[in-house]
Amino acid sequence: MILQKHIFSILGSVFLLLASGCQTDEPVPYKLNVPSWFPEMEIPAENQLTKARIEVGRKLFYEPLLSLDSSISCGTCHLQENAFTQELPISLGVDGALGLRNAPTLANIGFAPYFFHDGGVLTLELQSQQPIFSVDEMRFSIAGFLERIENDAEYKRMFAEAYNREPDAFGITRAIASFERTFISATSRFDQFEYQGITDALSEQEKRGRTLFFSETAKCSSCHEPPLFTNYKFENIGLYLNYADSGRARISHLSEDNGKFKVPTVRNVELTAPYMHNGSMQTLEEVVEHFNSGGVNHPNQSEKIQPLNLNQQEKEDLVAFLKTLTDQSFLTDTEISNPN
Ligand code: HEC
Ligand code: HEC
Repeated sequence: MILQKHIFSILGSVFLLLASGCQTDEPVPYKLNVPSWFPEMEIPAENQLTKARIEVGRKLFYEPLLSLDSSISCGTCHLQENAFTQELPISLGVDGALGLRNAPTLANIGFAPYFFHDGGVLTLELQSQQPIFSVDEMRFSIAGFLERIENDAEYKRMFAEAYNREPDAFGITRAIASFERTFISATSRFDQFEYQGITDALSEQEKRGRTLFFSETAKCSSCHEPPLFTNYKFENIGLYLNYADSGRARISHLSEDNGKFKVPTVRNVELTAPYMHNGSMQTLEEVVEHFNSGGVNHPNQSEKIQPLNLNQQEKEDLVAFLKTLTDQSFLTDTEISNPN
């Protein structure tokens, strides 16, 4: 009986291979639109981008059937209009379960060397299964999702085209990662000014803010390093003397990592409030005030965080500069929007 089943499934896969071999000639490779001033994106050899992979990844990213009660998708907590963040301090999962942290932006996520505020996950492929299983997020399983789509002809067709196989965990995690790699945000006014020679793309105030951001005094750019506006290091910026969330130390178990979090990009930061790993700050003015204060002097606090003594005008200039990193075309690009 069991043997029979195996033979049938082997025959089935052979048939599928042959069938898909007939329909699709060569996979259509996808050329990422990475601008010349960005680094190259490292993409795993076994998951090179194709149009078919990105398309099924997009469907999955916006798929509520991936959650226990079919109520939330990845796109519920990562909204395109908010640069793939959410306006809640801490995300809510199935049944309103309170998560641990603030949903980070997914803009340029394909360039990141590790994921989560504590860097605890090393590839996008691995990352994509975490929210599906997590009890305070989607609280479900890939096996459960596969049952739900068992008779779904469209998913079957899409997976055959993308990965030459039936829908399964292999394809699901790779497809979601492929879609996320297309989240490239590089057409802000800052990019026009800095890299495309459009000198009037920034106002006088924004240019003053830019000078401050890159200055030896404020040191913002030493952590929020262009063009991605992060150096991906883990830093303690002196928010608290006692961190409720130990950050990087959760992964490394080293006390010197207590209160350190991955430097977030500040691209599109105008639209990603609330701020910090726990969503504790509502406005950019508040964030700038924090850096101006020099932090609370936590023992692990970065030496770069020092009182800045900025005057009111300078603080406003800095905020005005941060808003030049908003990328309207990224926020409205229909290639990455919810297809449903
Ligand atoms: C309930 C809300 C919620 C859902 C649903 C959700 N996420 Fe997230 N996502 C978060 C939060 C919160 C974090 C930060 C977690 C942490 O740092 O510990 C995060 C982090 C991430 C990161 C890492 C970003 C970075 O800068 O390191 C990626 C990538 C990501 N999510 C993709 C997805 C994908 C893909 C899905 C669907 C399969 C998904 N998320 C579903 C809330 C959510
Ligand atoms: C020592 C490195 C470092 C320096 C210098 C630094 N930052 Fe940050 N910044 C961080 C880290 C780390 C976080 C995230 C902390 C957290 O999640 O708790 C952050 C968070 C932010 C955020 C919130 C982003 C978000 O999505 O939550 C903004 C805005 C910001 N910084 C702007 C600035 C500005 C402006 C300056 C200069 C005055 C500056 N930073 C200097 C490391 C730094």
